[in-house]
Parts: sequence; C-alpha cells; structure tokens
Amino acid sequence: MPTRGKPMQKLFVAVALGLALPAAATAQTISGTNHDLSARGWGSTELCVFCHTPHNATTAVTAAPLWNHGVTAVASYGTYASATLNATVGQPGDISKLCLSCHDGTVAIDTYGTRTGTNFMTGGALVGTNLSNDHPVGFTYDATLATADGGLKDPTTPATIAPARLFAGKMECASCHNAHSDQYGKFLRGSNAGSGLCLACHSK
Ligand code: HEC
Ligand code: HEC
Ligand code: HEC
Ligand code: HEC
Repeated sequence: MPTRGKPMQKLFVAVALGLALPAAATAQTISGTNHDLSARGWGSTELCVFCHTPHNATTAVTAAPLWNHGVTAVASYGTYASATLNATVGQPGDISKLCLSCHDGTVAIDTYGTRTGTNFMTGGALVGTNLSNDHPVGFTYDATLATADGGLKDPTTPATIAPARLFAGKMECASCHNAHSDQYGKFLRGSNAGSGLCLACHSK
C-alpha cells in the first residue's frame, strides 16, 4: 500500500500545525478582543489607528507611543490612600493616561485622529476619574519602597517582577495590563490564576 504513507504523513503534519498555529497566533493579538474596534463602524477598519498613528501623533502626552487617540484633559484624579501605604501616590502618569483616555469616560472611545466621537465608555470597563478605590498607580516602585513595605519584591532587576513591569520606574495601568493581548483575559500581562500576577510583586 504505497499510497497510504503519504496522506497519513500529511494528516499528521496538518494536525500538528493545527494545534501549534492557534497557540502562536493568540499569543499577542488585538484582533477579536474588546480592543479591536475595527468592526464598530467608527470610521476605520484598521486595528491600530484607534490608538496609534505613524504620522502626526499627539504630543499632548510625553512618552506616549505615537498616540492617536484623544487625550483625557482630567487634571486631578482621586488617588488611593490607606494607613499602611508606604508609596507616595501621585497623579497617574502619561502611560496610564493613555488607558484613561478611553476608560475614565471623559473622551469618546471613537475620538481619534481628526475624528470627534460620540460613544463613551459605560459599564464595568468604566474606571472613571476617582481612582481612590483602584490599585494605586502613578508612583515610583523601587528597592526603598520594597524595604519599607516589607512584603514587596525588589524590582531593581526587572525580571524579578515579570510578567508585571514598570514604566520609568513607576507603577502604571500597563504594569498589570497589556492593551495588545487578551491571552490571559482582562488584558492582563500574565495569568492571575492563584493570584499569580499579584504575587509577581507582592510576597504574601
Ligand atoms: C486600545 C488601544 C491600543 C490599540 C488598539 C493598539 N495599541 Fe499599541 N499601545 C497602547 C498603549 C496604551 C501602549 C503603551 C503601554 C504599553 O507599552 O504597553 C501601547 C504601546 C505600543 C507600542 C510601544 C511599546 C511596545 O509594546 O513595543 C507599540 C510598538 C505598539 N503599541 C504597537 C501597536 C500596533 C502595531 C497596534 C495595532 C496592531 C497597536 N499597538 C494597537 C494601546 C493600543
Ligand atoms: C481606544 C480606547 C481604549 C483605550 C485607549 C484602552 N481601552 Fe481598554 N477597552 C476599550 C473598550 C471599547 C473596551 C470594551 C468595553 C466594554 O466591553 O464595554 C475595553 C475593555 C477593557 C478591559 C476589559 C476587558 C474585558 O474582557 O472585559 C480592560 C481590562 C481594559 N480595557 C484595559 C485597558 C488598559 C489597561 C488600557 C491601557 C493600557 C486600555 N484598556 C486602553 C477601549 C480602550
Ligand atoms: C496591580 C495590577 C493592576 C493595575 C495597576 C491596574 N489593574 Fe486593571 N485590573 C487588574 C486585574 C487583576 C483585573 C481583573 C479583575 C477581575 O477579573 O476581577 C483588572 C480589571 C480591569 C478592568 C476590567 C473591569 C471589569 O469589570 O471588566 C479595567 C477596565 C481595568 N482593569 C482598567 C485599568 C486601568 C485603566 C488602570 C489604571 C488606571 C488599571 N486597570 C490598573 C489589575 C490591575
Ligand atoms: C507591578 C507590581 C505590582 C503588582 C503586579 C501588584 N501590586 Fe499591589 N502594590 C504594588 C506596590 C508597589 C504597592 C504599594 C505598596 C506600599 O506602598 O507599601 C501596592 C499596593 C497594594 C495594596 C495596598 C497596600 C496598602 O497598604 O494600602 C494592595 C492591597 C495591593 N497592592 C494588592 C494587590 C493585588 C490584589 C494585586 C493583584 C491583583 C496586586 N496588588 C498586584 C505593586 C504591585
């Protein structure tokens, strides 16, 4: 039966690819997630344009990656406080303001480039402008803070707190979230099963 070996081999290869491809393809992709706004009828069927542009990016927020979305003008967010907090929590940094430009509800989701949108964030994804009931962002997290807290990892070596990360040494929304991948749900940087993401920084 000389014809049998080949189709079987092909089938094996196809199954192997079939299993391998989706895993590789879902690793880092916006397509099909809640951040894929391309099918909403909001003036573009592109993926990146709602947040980035190769030209004429805004300079309203420094350190923003070629930002194309309308930038929040909120000057003073409510900030987290507690009796046991050691960090000096300030206003969210520019990296957090990128998220808040859709999630604080003050700028329409479909305001980007030269377009002024009309669709605002609602429901559970609306974080709002009072961040006093949210995990603190907008502060320096360094070895000194880790020592003062006593239950935090020293982030001097970035790998220590992976998959979480800091932005110019600071905690921001994207320390825990990755706007580009919903691989772990809720656009988290890593799985939070067993609170794994929390334990990336906290030793509890
Ligand atoms: C819903 C908003 C949103 C969309 C859509 C989006 N991004 Fe981003 N992007 C961000 C935010 C916020 C940051 C800054 C935070 C960070 O670096 O994780 C960023 C950072 C980046 C960076 C710099 C940091 C890095 O990860 O290398 C690149 C490059 C980038 N995006 C490329 C893209 C491309 C390409 C697309 C489309 C395929 C895209 N983004 C779509 C929000 C978005
Ligand atoms: C261009 C607007 C825009 C930007 C910028 C943006 N988001 Fe979103 N985000 C959305 C929309 C739209 C949804 C879906 C809301 C809904 O389901 O009602 C969403 C949903 C989410 C969700 C909920 C996901 C789920 O599965 O329920 C999280 C978490 C989130 N975003 C985090 C972030 C973070 C963190 C940033 C910055 C790194 C960010 N987003 C930047 C528009 C944006
Ligand atoms: C310390 C880590 C951490 C930081 C910092 C953080 N988040 Fe989250 N966020 C989470 C986790 C974990 C969840 C998922 C919670 C759950 O599933 O119950 C979440 C959920 C969300 C959701 C979805 C809420 C829902 O009900 O669907 C949004 C939107 C969101 N975050 C936006 C933000 C924004 C905007 C910032 C910055 C202002 C931010 N996050 C900062 C860890 C964080
Ligand atoms: C990227 C690192 C990082 C991640 C990930 C992280 N945290 Fe934090 N968290 C911090 C830092 C830094 C502080 C400030 C601690 C201080 O001031 O002593 C903090 C503060 C807190 C506080 C307030 C402590 C107080 O004394 O008021 C709580 C509670 C907390 N985190 C819980 C969580 C939970 C739950 C998660 C997972 C959903 C999480 N954190 C994920 C870094 C992180």
